[in-house]
Amino acid sequence: MKVIAYYKKQTKHILVLDACDEEISPEDFFQEIAGVYANLEIMFIESLILPVRIIEALIKLVEQYGQETFRIYTTTESLSQYLFELRIPNIQLHRVSQISPEQDSEDLIKFSSEELRDLLIGIYQIYGYDFRNYQLENLKRTIAQTMARETMPDFDKFRQKVMQDQEFFQCLFLKLSVNVTSFFRYPDLYKVLREEVFPYLNSFPHLRIWSVGAASGEEAYSLAILLDELNMLDKSIIYATDFNSVVLQKAQNGLYALSPLKQAAENHQKSGGSEQLEKYFHINCYYAQIKPFLKKKVVFFHHNLTSDTAFNEFHLIICKNVLIYFNSQLQENVVKLFKQSLHRNGFLVLGRSENLFHNQDFIKYKAGFNIFKFLNSGIE
Ligand SMILES: C[S@@+](CC[C@H](N)C(=O)[O-])C[C@H]1O[C@@H](n2cnc3c(N)ncnc32)[C@H](O)[C@@H]1O
Repeated sequence: MKVIAYYKKQTKHILVLDACDEEISPEDFFQEIAGVYANLEIMFIESLILPVRIIEALIKLVEQYGQETFRIYTTTESLSQYLFELRIPNIQLHRVSQISPEQDSEDLIKFSSEELRDLLIGIYQIYGYDFRNYQLENLKRTIAQTMARETMPDFDKFRQKVMQDQEFFQCLFLKLSVNVTSFFRYPDLYKVLREEVFPYLNSFPHLRIWSVGAASGEEAYSLAILLDELNMLDKSIIYATDFNSVVLQKAQNGLYALSPLKQAAENHQKSGGSEQLEKYFHINCYYAQIKPFLKKKVVFFHHNLTSDTAFNEFHLIICKNVLIYFNSQLQENVVKLFKQSLHRNGFLVLGRSENLFHNQDFIKYKAGFNIFKFLNSGIE
């Protein structure tokens, strides 16, 4: 993290670059905010996310100064939205244009599949992220919407900017990786896990669970809550992975917006929850924070399904709403990776519209749900 501070008239200005660079500690930042100033302004330059220590420091400053004398500036939509979710006021500079709902459709796509493929090859060569085997229609829509928001109608110019401007690519990457998630999403699925799958797995002395494409962590924490309610948390560990470092930092922070919590509590009850969901959070007027006893049972780290290998053996792998973005070739490769990563008698859980077609190594465990039991009949 690089911190530059200066005074102008009555105001102290602090500029922060690389706010998530863990190599350098944020002590410089804490030193700069330590005094009392007439006015204080902090600008996070190109930061996409912040670690929890800085978020907590910002809240102290909001409470100490009030909005008249303390301002936070952000330069990315990602950080600005995250702070707003946590009820931390901020002003986003370089705001991109909004697209109207009627623009948000197929007719924004003004480039061919070949042009898109060239862009994906370039992204792979320069940044190492391989989207070549993702569903092209999804990618097309996301790219067309980004071009419209950035008011960049010329595809060649857009492609050049993606290739040359790493920050621009990072913002596009966040959109391409689609991070929508929530606590106890599909409660009926969690009910089957609670009532049938986990009681079966309870015969194992230790449990290793892999939440694949974990996004901002809600799925992994939901599983931890469920295991706690079944008195199985102590003997379990949940590995939660994603290829998007920004959402992983959010997951690691464990801070969640207050407004979706009501729906989360309803879903938790529908899933058969025996405790009040609030038991698992420290709640203040900004956000709900996952309690440490739950957090320490979930390990988040970077893992890319297109390039990384198996890293452990699991009793349950949950991979919801990830395979739908892949073409059949990539889906097949990923299922192979899951087979290499599953304990015999382990389970694979997929999302509602995801399936294993004609795969003799798995049997469907429960009609109506994409829960599969691994048969372990000779792994390649
Ligand atoms: C829609 S979210 C699913 C979140 C969660 N599993 C759920 O069902 O609520 C899809 C996640 O898959 C991740 N993802 C996409 N491609 C990936 C890849 N190649 N390797 C690892 N994660 C990937 C995205 O970053 C995103 O966070």
